[in-house]
Amino acid sequence: MMFRIAPTMDSFLIEGGTRLCGEVQISGSKNAVLPIMAATLLTAETCVIRHVPDLSDVRFMCRILTSLGAQVEFDGSTLTVCAAKITGTGDYDLIRKMRGSICILGPLLARLRTASVSLPGGCVIGTRPIDLHLKGLRSLGTEIHVEGGYVKAHAPELNGAHVFLGGRAGPTVLGTANILMAAALADGITVLESAACEPEIIDLADFLNAMGARIQGAGSPTITITGVRELHGVEHEVIPDRIEAGTFAVAAAASGGQVTLRGARPDHLGAVLDKLQEAGARIDRRGGALTVSAGSFLRPVDITTMPYSGFPTDMQAQLMALMCLAPGTSIITERIFESRFMHASELMRLGADIGIEGPSAIVKGGKPLSGAEVMASDLRASAALVIAGIAASGKTQVHRVYHLDRGYERMEVKLEKLGARIQRVPGE
Ligand code: UD1
Repeated sequence: MMFRIAPTMDSFLIEGGTRLCGEVQISGSKNAVLPIMAATLLTAETCVIRHVPDLSDVRFMCRILTSLGAQVEFDGSTLTVCAAKITGTGDYDLIRKMRGSICILGPLLARLRTASVSLPGGCVIGTRPIDLHLKGLRSLGTEIHVEGGYVKAHAPELNGAHVFLGGRAGPTVLGTANILMAAALADGITVLESAACEPEIIDLADFLNAMGARIQGAGSPTITITGVRELHGVEHEVIPDRIEAGTFAVAAAASGGQVTLRGARPDHLGAVLDKLQEAGARIDRRGGALTVSAGSFLRPVDITTMPYSGFPTDMQAQLMALMCLAPGTSIITERIFESRFMHASELMRLGADIGIEGPSAIVKGGKPLSGAEVMASDLRASAALVIAGIAASGKTQVHRVYHLDRGYERMEVKLEKLGARIQRVPGE
């Protein structure tokens, strides 16, 4: 099956000043499905994954799995993978281009005991090292050499071990995923300390346990994995995307509207909903549905990004857009990725007043925003610009929305249904 990834220099044209009202269906989680897709490499049997978001990152991962020899079918929502015969060397360029692809290393090693994977490229939000992934895999007995842009890993035996995975900025999400997957097929018991607690790690552990793995403690900082000899095929439904839900929640508050987030998990959104409430939004969780509405005023709030269950770095840009509208000063501190403020200068094109001081952005909100041409620099920055464009007066054109297409399923269609005046303008 061919996986078309639209070659887009498309932009969004937004006519601002509309309130978002109505219901939006939340898609499956990008950050959950990418490691789950990698986990299908752990078995020769067929895996069926449902509630998969149709995103360019997912199609990219389909291509990576195909390049490793797996049979992959994707109908835009259900993904079927059979990795009966695979090789341990992935396509250099495909893997290099997508950061999330590093999580194929653990499963390839576990299944084949050898893997050669290109180093994922850096990206605009920071250097994004993989030292903790390699440290964890080495602890399980893997020999690793980094040469010629490749990580070459070889593990005649994989043995359970005690692994401490905490880094400078706390735990690593994909590093935790990699070690979980390698340890699932190792000999003996692995104890992971300072593991990432994100819901996406719980979803991966649920997937692996359904395949026959023995993993306990996912969602807490200590995870115990008892290795098994082999894993089998499985059917699984991916959790809803908490960052997409959070983005629509912020968009509702920023536009002065009211949006019900169908299928969202409020228990995954604690820190975001708490900050929205502090900023003056109303949160209603009645009848199993989550509705976010703008209050009668917006208040500035201070935010510091942290590992789960703290405020997610993937929601920092969107909250900054909201804070541009709240009269007063808010301080937004980024503790996970050092250069994740590229959206600040673009928000300033719309009239925002933002100063950057080290890891903090000082937002003096409440100045009227008016439409402008802006450039998306990364996935979540793009979402912030779309939110600001909807709240601004006049026309905003957000260029390079291919960043957005990596992680939001048909965002402009969902926004239009909520009343936004937004259209995709095809690029050359
Ligand atoms: C994942 C998410 C990304 C999110 C991030 C933090 C996916 C596909 N991506 O990325 O959307 O923004 O978690 O919540 O799930 N670090 C090291 N050494 C390492 C690995 C990471 O120092 O070996 C540092 C990073 O530079 C960063 C911090 O640890 O400062 C957290 O990064 P990490 O959790 O690994 O991010 P990803 O898993 O790549």
